Amino acid sequence: MKKPWSGRFRETTRPSVENFTESLSFDQRLYPFDIQGSIAHATMLGETGLLSAAEAEAIIDGLKAVAQDMDQGRVSFDPAFEDIHMLVEHLLTEKIGPVGKKLHTARSRNDQVATDIRLWLKDAGGRLDGGLLGLQRALLEKAAACEHLIMPGFTHLQHAQPVGVAFYLMAFLEKFHRDRSRLADCLKRADVLPLGACALAGTTLAIDRERVAGALGFAGVSRNAMDSVSDRDFLAEYAFALSLTATHISNFCEDMIIWASAEYSYITIDDGYCTGSSIMPQKKNPDVHELLRGKTARVHGALHGLLTLIKGLPQAYNRDLQEDKELIFDAHDTVLASLSILAELVGHTHFNEKRLLDSTAKGFMEATALAEYLVARGIFFRDAHHISGEIVRMAETEGKTLAQLDLGAMQRLCPKIERDVFSVLSCEAILDQVKSAGSTGRAQMRSALAFWHGRLDPAS
Ligand code: ARG
Repeated sequence: MKKPWSGRFRETTRPSVENFTESLSFDQRLYPFDIQGSIAHATMLGETGLLSAAEAEAIIDGLKAVAQDMDQGRVSFDPAFEDIHMLVEHLLTEKIGPVGKKLHTARSRNDQVATDIRLWLKDAGGRLDGGLLGLQRALLEKAAACEHLIMPGFTHLQHAQPVGVAFYLMAFLEKFHRDRSRLADCLKRADVLPLGACALAGTTLAIDRERVAGALGFAGVSRNAMDSVSDRDFLAEYAFALSLTATHISNFCEDMIIWASAEYSYITIDDGYCTGSSIMPQKKNPDVHELLRGKTARVHGALHGLLTLIKGLPQAYNRDLQEDKELIFDAHDTVLASLSILAELVGHTHFNEKRLLDSTAKGFMEATALAEYLVARGIFFRDAHHISGEIVRMAETEGKTLAQLDLGAMQRLCPKIERDVFSVLSCEAILDQVKSAGSTGRAQMRSALAFWHGRLDPAS
């Protein structure tokens, strides 16, 4: 096949080289953006007189017809065309004749691919935000349904203090909320048009880049042509945003996996969302959660890959940059699919009230509230901490819970203790008394739920 760049070559490209260098097998998914960019470019060339009105019209109609052929699966993506940009131009010229060869005026594949991938990113970012919102809604629905449930809160995987199940779930609403804001921030920086940078230095032709930016919905045009074609920092940022989302998904799944075990049994996952063992008939495994945790690895890998890809490049464009696509496409697809299945999973996860209560009774989780009870009676916190610790030791020795201890025995350790101490020796009661902003206190949880309903409910 004759290459558009074959003028200075005496030999044709070796098939092995074609196979090794092609990107069509993976950049074909850019075709809607490539064609959209070309239509905007041709429109501008027509308006500025670099193409006649009739030429521009023929090219635009031809591009629309190519898009339709691709939409309807009538195009074979032959890797001999090298990449999506050359295939589209070839199909266009086949359709409308030699005038198709004017499309590439004042443009290079370097600024073209940088434009395509930014257009892709805007679209992908919107989808990712939708996925994050869907998961947030599923978490909020579950949190609202679990408003009355309490559970052990852990640090170091040891019982720490009692918390609401809704409080736990809303912790993840916060994480995914930050993920959405990080995504929006990254999209803002990517929102500049590189087209018109040409190969690296701009053009002698009188193009109108602002016009193209407006047509493609970019906030503005890039300021430096060399920078516009040489960097993929915006993809690294997106990969970082994806990596943190994957990390948050992984954190959540790790808890679910532990909590679904026989030792915890805090949750039950519906059968349709678990898988079995080929040898052990009794097994019901949380494989979906495990895969979600496992898939985080490839997303982090993409971030590392992109950073490494960029770091050694001389200015400006180098073919290395073609390697950006598979990394970012895979990371994006992985996280988007993860968000969607996890939203489903959340709806099919049930918290076991009885197990949570039994577990909450263990581990002396009232000890901090007991120390604070003493502080309220004038005891210095370090002393209060010590006394509460001694009371825990006494309960442990006697094989009792704190609430089962004898009042007199506690008073011998601290005379300031009175009968009302029992109001902080039950986890349920503690949640009524915790009152600091952002805490797991019942009133705070109620207002947090209202806050999230206001933010996330479809009508809002
Ligand atoms: N397929 C290439 C890429 O993805 C397009 C740009 C090629 N430019 C070039 N000068 N060879 O980066």
